[in-house]
Amino acid sequence: MTFADALVDWQRRAGRHDLPWQRTRDPYRIWVSEIMLQQTQVSTVLGYYGRFLASYPDVAALAAAPIDDVLRHWSGLGYYSRARNLHAAARAVVDLHGGAFPTDPGALEALPGIGRSTAAAIAAFSSGTRVPILDGNVKRVLCRVFGVEGFPGERAVEQRLWALAAREMPEAGEGRIETYTQALMDLGATVCVRTKPRCDACPVAERCVARAHGRVDALPAPRPARAVGTRGAHWALVRAGDAVLLERRAASGLWGGLWSLPEVVAPGEAVTPDAVDADSVAAWARARLGLDADAAAVAPLGDVRHAFTHFRLRARVWAMRVEPSVAAPAEHLWLALGDAADAPLPRPVKVLLTGLVGAGEGLF
Ligand code: ADE
Repeated sequence: MTFADALVDWQRRAGRHDLPWQRTRDPYRIWVSEIMLQQTQVSTVLGYYGRFLASYPDVAALAAAPIDDVLRHWSGLGYYSRARNLHAAARAVVDLHGGAFPTDPGALEALPGIGRSTAAAIAAFSSGTRVPILDGNVKRVLCRVFGVEGFPGERAVEQRLWALAAREMPEAGEGRIETYTQALMDLGATVCVRTKPRCDACPVAERCVARAHGRVDALPAPRPARAVGTRGAHWALVRAGDAVLLERRAASGLWGGLWSLPEVVAPGEAVTPDAVDADSVAAWARARLGLDADAAAVAPLGDVRHAFTHFRLRARVWAMRVEPSVAAPAEHLWLALGDAADAPLPRPVKVLLTGLVGAGEGLF
């Protein structure tokens, strides 16, 4: 039996079929339920959903309502940006779609407050469209069942999960997409919960990679620890004409092989913030780069900050000007500022240099 078959079978046997938003194919009503359910449990939503739809039975009624009335209906549900987006989306549906609520995932995702997964859920429940969902609960289910390591908030991991979600969908027809989509949500919300999952009640326990490897409590992987500690550095921003001097970083280590601003003190040498001033930067430039910078013209431009996984970097940038005829030392080159956007530079350096384009000569 496939993963999808096992879920569909479980949903038909053991799932809930009587929730108010399950008895309709009206995309408007489904949308309202999906937005309410985004950060709120089913039991709480049940108390709001009926009242909301009694007041706003269709999208035109919602669009015509004053925002304060909509917020009053939302009072107690929390995350009020959901209500504001709901109202804005209702107006957009009236303006852009003549009041006909869309069912196409692309059109849905273009509306305020509807992300890719919510768009897919609305398309699936209203029309049986075969598109994958991937909300927080579904991520947890897929990480465990398929043994996906890594923090799901990371781009590469999330892309893997979307690919898995797409791969595991059942064929469309006979209500399978609707049932499967609901099963995934319900499994994540009621069985494959974050702490103390009920694996004994899980229809896919037999095939669960996390369970087989004793990693149910370890998956999905938590967000990596916040960056701790700050490392200081000093960078030279040497400008000649419209070019800046770059240094190739060592192949091993941070930003290995990328072109960056020359480090005033070689990596690894101790730097205390106060040990570097304009005079010492000018002396360093003379000794290490053979550049005859006028010490009086060396000035701190500001600090570049960047968070790595395990530490923060704070690099003070020292700006100076030299004559355009100066040759670049070994492992250095002159880069025209206009080429910075396409050059292999660390991100914060690229941001800094592209920000200088057009800043004029007066900046330093
Ligand atoms: N969470 C988001 N959508 C849901 C739905 N349709 N049923 C249960 N929980 C949900």
